[in-house]
Amino acid sequence: MGIRIAPSILAADFANLEAASASVTGADWLHIDVMDNHFVPNLTIGQPVVESLARVSKQPLDCHLMIEDPDRWAPGYVEAGAASVTFHVEACHAPVRLARELRSQGARAGMALKPATPVEPYEDLLGELDMLLVMTVEPGFGGQKFLDLVLPKVRAARELVKGRDLDLWIQVDGGVSAETVERCAEAGADVFVAGSAVYDTDDPGRAVEGLRARAEQATASSWWGAH
Ligand code: DX5
Ligand code: ZN
Repeated sequence: MGIRIAPSILAADFANLEAASASVTGADWLHIDVMDNHFVPNLTIGQPVVESLARVSKQPLDCHLMIEDPDRWAPGYVEAGAASVTFHVEACHAPVRLARELRSQGARAGMALKPATPVEPYEDLLGELDMLLVMTVEPGFGGQKFLDLVLPKVRAARELVKGRDLDLWIQVDGGVSAETVERCAEAGADVFVAGSAVYDTDDPGRAVEGLRARAEQATASSWWGAH
């Protein structure tokens, strides 16, 4: 059972992103929040920064695109060096076509759901994806309170994945911390994004390992991860 921890650099020092990567060498991915001030009311970083970061980052880059028209822009993030690119289904015109394009470029294709977006309408698309991101806050800002109301959707997604025997990772993002990571793992998540719980601490590397230990333990005793 693979647990993956992806620190979100949104909570790191934007003047020193190379150090943000170096401080979490035990992390599986580095999570990059791309926001366009349209899909969400915040503006962060784009393709040139991802390109630079890909050159120095110790971890593969996991780009979470909170942008309008990902059909047009998402492939550029694979060209910039992202190993995984996640688009929001609420903003996407042709999710199957886009997922296939990202995969054909050699990246993992992820699809994200805002808290009010159900998973069931997309059941038949899941085989086209490598990851489903179930947002556990409204996208746009770091440091928000975790939304427990999303956990039944994580569980429903894991049931679909199990029922169809899919190789689909389930990612949670927003308010994931030592207090909430176990609930996410228990519900069925296996990829955990954490911004403030990693970078707003004295030792980001240790925070990553703390989250991993809790997630692994909760998974091992969960309804879906127990052997
Ligand atoms: C929110 C972003 C998250 C954010 C999480 O829209 O997608 O990746 O960085 O931050 P925390 O972990 O502080 O909630
Ligand atoms: Zn994110």
